[in-house]
Amino acid sequence: MTPALIHARRLGRAFGEGPSRVQALVDLDLDVEAGERLAITGPSGAGKSTLLNLLGALDGGYLGTLQIAGAELHALGDRQLSALRNRTIGFVFQSFNLLPSLDVAANLALPAAFAEGGAAAGADPSALRARALELLARVGLDASVAARRPLELSGGQRQRVALARALLLKPALLLCDEPTGSLDRAHADAVLDLFEELARENGSALLIVTHDPLVIERQPRVLHLEAGRLMRDERRQP
Ligand SMILES: Nc1ncnc2c1ncn2[C@@H]1O[C@H](COP(=O)(O)OP(=O)(O)O)[C@@H](O)[C@H]1O
Ligand SMILES: [Mg+2]
Repeated sequence: MTPALIHARRLGRAFGEGPSRVQALVDLDLDVEAGERLAITGPSGAGKSTLLNLLGALDGGYLGTLQIAGAELHALGDRQLSALRNRTIGFVFQSFNLLPSLDVAANLALPAAFAEGGAAAGADPSALRARALELLARVGLDASVAARRPLELSGGQRQRVALARALLLKPALLLCDEPTGSLDRAHADAVLDLFEELARENGSALLIVTHDPLVIERQPRVLHLEAGRLMRDERRQP
């Protein structure tokens, strides 16, 4: 049997010590299968970003069990963790996290450059570049954007670059923290159409932290967090 993509039991995360200690996540149980789509919602401070950072193997300071594709994160060494982050997981942050000093092509190549200490296994640089250009076209940007720097692009264009970058290595898990937060309605809808379509094409599971009711409504499964606890895990008929 293939292991669940995400398997978490009594997952917890606390920050700080003594009176300033914050229990950001408490005893969370979660299973996510390959290709599932989920919205993660809840008030500010509920622990949504904390959860996403743990699921993305960006933060190892957790209590309980957290397995991604069958591997307990606490059991992995630094090299295995970065391989997992680069080959299995794609991120799209609200702030896009594009490096301003690099042009779009270099930003797209960044995760691939870190994967496996320099060269992504099974993909030579020219193949990666071809895929990067293909993805740019796929997200509706023309090839001339590749030579521009993030600050020369609009918010919507930057978001599309961030999405193309996250998808470059066909991650099994695509994590998005408020991906439409800084976009107007029309752009937000177009970006979301793309996320769903490309995730489906790649077979990626899609987890989207969002406050946007229209984004939530489109997902077959919705997690609701409050004060670090998973209060509801709703599945809907499509
Ligand atoms: N690195 C950190 N250091 C200290 N406290 C943190 C840190 N990250 C998050 N927190 C706290 O954990 C709680 C949950 O935060 P967060 O996961 O960012 O919430 P959300 O994304 O739902 O708004 C908040 O009380 C926040 O202040
Ligand atoms: Mg947050």
